[in-house]
Amino acid sequence: MQKTLVIIKPDSVKRRLVGEIISRFEEKGFEILGLKLMAIPEILARKNYSEHEGKDFFEKLITFMTSGPVVVLAISGKNAIAVTRTMMGKTACHEAAPGTIRGDFGLSNRFNLIHGSDSHESAEREIELFFNKNDLIDPEQTGLQWIYDLSD
Ligand code: RTP
Ligand code: MG
Repeated sequence: MQKTLVIIKPDSVKRRLVGEIISRFEEKGFEILGLKLMAIPEILARKNYSEHEGKDFFEKLITFMTSGPVVVLAISGKNAIAVTRTMMGKTACHEAAPGTIRGDFGLSNRFNLIHGSDSHESAEREIELFFNKNDLIDPEQTGLQWIYDLSD
């Protein structure tokens, strides 16, 4: 199964949306392999978003991501990277479709509630940035027969 990293951003934590957001991933059928509440050190925020270094919004993004606690999850499931991104919605919340997390709960293009890895490479890199290997539980095989057809 594919793994991805999700960060429930400081605005979501402040707005008490953590439970709502985690519920959506659980209800979809994803498995949580790692979960923690933390304040992201500035150096880690810069590493996580290094692809955006030099862009005009970069410093504001780092200020935002270090402005309060976040909840970080490593999640697993079929096509986890793409499905998670679809569930998040477009980057700018005011353009995100209803039914997506950003579309349902936000209006801003920066305070946009949630981060998700956007490729295999970034998922692997980001999971390693936030979790030690032994922090993550081994994926459960039990219960999956009600989420996927495992007969073939
Ligand atoms: P994320 O990396 O957080 O999952 O978001 P994303 O892929 O949808 O968007 P990305 O282009 O990677 O941008 C990273 C984050 O930077 C903030 N941002 N601000 N014009 C702006 O002010 C602007 N553009 C982007 C957002 O918080 C965005 O999620
Ligand atoms: Mg991104």
